[in-house]
Amino acid sequence: MRSLPFITFEGSEGCGKSTQVKRLAARLKKLRVPFLLTREPGGTPIGESIRELLQFDPQSAEMTAETELLLFEASRSQLVQEVIKPALQRKECVISDRFFDSTTVYQGAARKLDKEMVERLNTFAVGDCIPDITFVLDVDVKTARSRMKEPRRPDRMEEQEPEFYERVHQGYRELPKSDPDRIVLIDGSRSPDLIEDQIWKTLSSRFPALAIKLKIDKPVLSEAKRNRMDPEL
Ligand SMILES: Nc1ncnc2c1ncn2[C@@H]1O[C@H](COP(=O)(O)OP(=O)(O)OP(=O)(O)O)[C@@H](O)[C@H]1O
Ligand SMILES: [Mg+2]
Repeated sequence: MRSLPFITFEGSEGCGKSTQVKRLAARLKKLRVPFLLTREPGGTPIGESIRELLQFDPQSAEMTAETELLLFEASRSQLVQEVIKPALQRKECVISDRFFDSTTVYQGAARKLDKEMVERLNTFAVGDCIPDITFVLDVDVKTARSRMKEPRRPDRMEEQEPEFYERVHQGYRELPKSDPDRIVLIDGSRSPDLIEDQIWKTLSSRFPALAIKLKIDKPVLSEAKRNRMDPEL
């Protein structure tokens, strides 16, 4: 097993993934844990072009579900080879805002493409590059919608019929059954602080190497001195 984990965040639009990714990254930065932050689709020059095509290109209104599936996998394969695997080989912690479980849920459960084919393509794209832990932020459709009120660029995935989002929500709730050791379902309706706390407790107990830096740093500087040097500590 890797000493520093490959961590992914999952859940429907507006569930709070990016919020928690940022909080975790800030924590790791303070602890001086080396990490790499990425997202899907995208994360590489090729992947970012595919992201534009998938989410924002007006021509993509005509996109078939099969094309969509293959484009997500193309972006993912590039990300794994170009970014994630090299970072794990450098012994960095990797955090990804979405990964292959998104395809299991969106293209499998919600678009209703053949589930076996979706899993085969996921495996084809990532090989043995499987996350060590995945946090699914579970938020009901109404709450997620209410969090998406800020001005944002309209995304093709946000313009589906209401049943689509119910299938996404249900698909995510069922996801842990497929890999209970890896996938942790989190009640995303609570405050960002409580969620951050639960995520950190889970991570630091499963991957002690993540918290080790803090233990080393503490005796070196007294609390008062640390506060003077860095008011954010
Ligand atoms: N636990 C929470 N409680 C209330 N509001 C939250 C919580 N977490 C995040 N938010 C707010 O909800 C909005 C969406 O959060 P965020 O961007 O993190 O979601 P996301 O899952 O990354 O969405 P997307 O899939 O669209 O990228 C933001 O305005 C954020 O501040
Ligand atoms: Mg986000």
